[in-house]
Amino acid sequence: MTTEIQTEIQAEVERRRNFAIISHPDAGKTTLTEKLLLYGGAIHEAGAVKVRKAQRHATSDWMAMEQQRGISITSTVLQFEYNNCQINLLDTPGHQDFSEDTYRTLAAADNAVMLEDAAKGLEPQTRKLFEVCKMRSLPIFTFINKMDRPGREPLELLDEIEKELGLKTYPVNWPIGMGDRFKGVYDRRKKQIHLFERSAHGSREALDTVLDLGDPRIEEFLDQDLYYQLKEELELLEEVGSELNFDEIHSGKMTPVFFGSAMTNFGVKLFLDSFLDYALKPGSHLSTLGDMPPEYHEFTGFVFKLQANMDAKHRDRVAFVRVCTGKFEKDMTVNHARTGKVIRLSRPQKLFAQERQSIEIAYPGDVIGLNNPGVFAIGDTIYMGKKLEYEGIPCFSPELFAYLKNPNPSKFKQFHKGVSELREEGAVQIMFSADESKRDPILAAVGQLQFEVVQFRLQNEYGAETLLDPLPYSVARWVTGGWDALNQVGRIFNAAVVKDSWNRPVLLFKNDWNCRQAEGDHPELKLSSIAPVVS
Ligand code: G4P
Repeated sequence: MTTEIQTEIQAEVERRRNFAIISHPDAGKTTLTEKLLLYGGAIHEAGAVKVRKAQRHATSDWMAMEQQRGISITSTVLQFEYNNCQINLLDTPGHQDFSEDTYRTLAAADNAVMLEDAAKGLEPQTRKLFEVCKMRSLPIFTFINKMDRPGREPLELLDEIEKELGLKTYPVNWPIGMGDRFKGVYDRRKKQIHLFERSAHGSREALDTVLDLGDPRIEEFLDQDLYYQLKEELELLEEVGSELNFDEIHSGKMTPVFFGSAMTNFGVKLFLDSFLDYALKPGSHLSTLGDMPPEYHEFTGFVFKLQANMDAKHRDRVAFVRVCTGKFEKDMTVNHARTGKVIRLSRPQKLFAQERQSIEIAYPGDVIGLNNPGVFAIGDTIYMGKKLEYEGIPCFSPELFAYLKNPNPSKFKQFHKGVSELREEGAVQIMFSADESKRDPILAAVGQLQFEVVQFRLQNEYGAETLLDPLPYSVARWVTGGWDALNQVGRIFNAAVVKDSWNRPVLLFKNDWNCRQAEGDHPELKLSSIAPVVS
């Protein structure tokens, strides 16, 4: 019996690929997502995702806030089939004021696609997200977008990735021309030139003429200068470029690079094909029972994200669970590791953009949305069979800090209940000054949006009006040596001493410079930008 199940799970794991896109706003994430769905046959005409964005009706005030701002605060999971593979795209909030959700989503991803705008190269949000991928040694696939517009030289863009991110690059395809003269790409895998024709606004799959490099018809299609430039660049790549190395790709040390234009569909299909071949399949996860391979016969998973009150009327909460091992089936009864409770998973959901569909079964690498009546917290493990717990999800270094004040003493209870529940849910980190006379909680966020969401929800869900008093810090460091280490050092200039929700000491600095200075002056303190995992 066990082996039969394992064979089934193994076959499903084999055909699963899961990834998240990391990019800076405007690089083209929505457009690329749309095009991937188009090639995956999940939508038939590009524009559907955007249309969905625009036409979405507010089902709650919460949604109304998303709509007013014209942004997507919450992330969803897009699932589609391509070449008999099931692809799970873990969508991350695209807005500049991104939150910890974006980081946490990467904890559930097996691969990351780093999307760059060819004219801009690496941008701040991409760099931050890259750091999280690096911490997890995620394989990173780079898609350099907007080649149909004038941009930076391809070699210069590769150089930037190598130097600034310390990643080796391996261009899998190479652009032919750029801007108005962008003609297509050369596929180094099959040694073929793909010449594209633009379809009307890229709404249908691009027409693609494929030629071998020595094909005499090339002259009909390509200007001589472009052809010679291509040949020269390819020779250069062969001479000085790195060799394709799968171990390095899978350990996040080398990034396969693709050039294209999501808007006009150039290079999207080639990217998808190579991605399916190169990407990591769902793998093992570290737990208290050791490394758990996906084909382990019992269902297990962990919560990586909570989404609250999508529909305020129903006080609706969804916990997103990454399936790590076994087979998930609707109506299953599972154990909740943290509380020891037994829970029946009766309303599992998968999310396609904003539509929810019920799911019957899921396998490792999939994400399921569970109705969460306050049972789940970020990092929780659910399991069948032998008890185990997965590594928690770390708190990421916040960059914005503000005292949250309650101007209305009669709402004291609501204020504290709200703050504490939103903290548990992972909407924001809460810290307190080490100076006991300052009692107001400090909101610590990675994006401005988190402040707004917390204030909005405190008002709407708990009836507590609040005031924000921003603090002039931008860097948080956990003192890994604990209070003893900190107390021995005494006062540190230009830093505030606060404690996190687990009473651990955290230093807040005004800027990196101050932080580095403190590190230099007090090497014994051991400062960390990521909080130790609380289990
Ligand atoms: P995001 O989700 O990363 O924020 O980016 P999004 O896809 O919304 O794209 C940002 C802008 O860049 C959009 O233009 C989009 O059309 C454009 N874009 C995306 N991919 C390409 C590409 O390959 N080539 C070119 N030239 N442009 C691209 P917009 O004017 O803001 O919106 P829209 O009016 O086109 O919808």
